[in-house]
Amino acid sequence: MIVPIKLNNTHNIEYNITIDALPTLHFDTRVVVVTNPTVSELHLETLLSKIEANHLHIVTVPDGEEYKTLQTVESILNQCFTYKLDRKSLLIAFGGGVIGDMTGFTASLYQRGIDFVQIPTTLLSQVDASVGGKTGVNNSYGKNLIGAFYQPKAVYIDPSFLQTLPPREFAAGVAEVVKMAVMFDKDFFNYLQDADLTKSESIKEMIRKSVELKAWVVNQDEKEAGIRAVLNYGHTFGHVVENETNYTTYLHGEAVAIGIVMANALAVELGMLSQAEAEQIKILLEKSSLPTQYHIKNVDDFYNHFFLDKKSAQGKITFILPQGIGGNKIISNIEESTIKKVLHTFGEQVCT
Ligand SMILES: NC(=O)c1ccc[n+]([C@@H]2O[C@H](COP(=O)([O-])OP(=O)(O)OC[C@H]3O[C@@H](n4cnc5c(N)ncnc54)[C@H](O)[C@@H]3O)[C@@H](O)[C@H]2O)c1
Ligand SMILES: [Zn+2]
Repeated sequence: MIVPIKLNNTHNIEYNITIDALPTLHFDTRVVVVTNPTVSELHLETLLSKIEANHLHIVTVPDGEEYKTLQTVESILNQCFTYKLDRKSLLIAFGGGVIGDMTGFTASLYQRGIDFVQIPTTLLSQVDASVGGKTGVNNSYGKNLIGAFYQPKAVYIDPSFLQTLPPREFAAGVAEVVKMAVMFDKDFFNYLQDADLTKSESIKEMIRKSVELKAWVVNQDEKEAGIRAVLNYGHTFGHVVENETNYTTYLHGEAVAIGIVMANALAVELGMLSQAEAEQIKILLEKSSLPTQYHIKNVDDFYNHFFLDKKSAQGKITFILPQGIGGNKIISNIEESTIKKVLHTFGEQVCT
C-alpha cells in the first residue's frame, strides 16, 4: 500500500511512502547505504539483495543516540567524497530514527543537497521519524537542535524488519502510535484497544494508519507552524522525564508514554478529558508494557525544566492536550498553580 506525501503548500514536493515487503530497487546512480553494525548484522544482506545500482557502497556508523552528532555527519560526508559521489548520487538511510535523521541531514548538505531514500527498521522510525522530512543531529545544547527540513525521494517501510526488534523498542514505537490515535482518530484508538500486536497483519494496519495520520498532518504543515505541533502531545512532560533521568532510564517512547499520562491528568483537571477516558488511554499504553508511573521528587524542579525545552518559547509553556479521545487543543495560558497541582499528584504532596 502507498501513502502519498504532497507538500504543495510550500513547494511542489511529492513522493510515496510504500508499506509492504521491500521491492527490488534500481538506481542508475552511485548509491551509499548508511547503517549501523546492529542493523547491518541483522538485515544488510536482505537489503543488498534488493538493490541494483551503478556503484554501491556501505557506510557504517556507531549505533546509539550519542553518535547522532555533527562529527558523525562529517564522517559520512567524508566517505561520500571518498566514494566520489556526485550531485546525482543517492543516500539510503537503513536503520532506526538515528540513522534516518543523520542520513537525511547529510544528504541535505552534500554538494548542497542530493537525493535520499528512507528504509526505516524500527517501529518508531516506521510510524514517525521517517515521515515528514525532519532531519538533524544533537549537540551539547540539546536534542535535534541542528538540522534541516529535507524530504526524501521515497520511503520504503517493510514491517518484516521489525521481527528482530527488541520488545522494549517495539513498545516505544507504540507510544507514538497511541499519541497519534488519541490526538486525531477515535476509531483508530478503538482499533488499537482490540488489536493483537503480535500479529503481522495488525502491525501492518497500525503502521498504515499511523503513517496516513502523520502524512495528513505533514501535508498541511510541513514546518510545524500549526497542526504539526500537535504531534508533541506527551512530549512536553516526556522531555522533562527524559532529562531528569539523564536519558538513561527510559527510551524516548517510554518517556512519551509517561508524558501522555501526565498530559491527560492536566486535561482531566481542565475538564477536557474524562477520568474514564484517561484510564482507557493508560490501559492501552500498559497493554504494550509501556511505563505509566513516574515519581516526581521535586515539583518546582520539574516545573522549571519545562522552560529548558526549545518549544517553550518566550517563557510560555505550550501544552498539547486531548479534547476527548480523538480531539486535541494547543494551550499556552494555563495557570502555574493548576500545572503544579497536577504535578503534585505524581509525587511530592502539597504541604498545607
Ligand atoms: N525526524 C523525525 O521526525 C523524528 C521523529 C521521532 C524521532 N526522531 C528521532 O529518532 C531517533 C529515535 O529513533 P529509534 O527509536 O528508531 O532509535 P534508534 O535509531 O536508536 O534505534 C533503536 C535501536 O534499535 C536498533 N535497531 C534498528 N533496527 C533494528 C531491527 N530491525 N532489529 C533490531 N534492532 C534494530 C538500533 O540499532 C538501535 O540500537 C531519535 O534520535 C529521535 O530524535 C525523529
Ligand atoms: Zn517522540
